[in-house]
Amino acid sequence: MSEFVKVAVKSEISDGAKLLVEADDRLVILFQVGDDYFCIDDVCTHDGGTLSDGEHEGCEIECPRHGAKFDVRTGKATCMPATQDTLAHEVKVDGDDIMVKINEE
Ligand code: FES
Repeated sequence: MSEFVKVAVKSEISDGAKLLVEADDRLVILFQVGDDYFCIDDVCTHDGGTLSDGEHEGCEIECPRHGAKFDVRTGKATCMPATQDTLAHEVKVDGDDIMVKINEE
């Protein structure tokens, strides 16, 4: 069972930014939206595109390959051609540390 692991400190990310990090040997994307942090897999469910190379605005990130979009808060696919959600991971803040717990679904 996965535990929370430290992936970053608050000074490494800012509101509206994203950061590619590693947790449990897995690349995931950390987002800051306002005072909240979210984390999803770096994988587009359409054809395995690298989401971290995509543009994002607010709570949505667009895959750079064919334009599928995902909600960074939940991993939900919000725009074709992706029909399956990508995995979202739990985030918690402990002091200055940002911690992620990998969802092993
Ligand atoms: S691989 Fe992401 S939209 Fe096709």
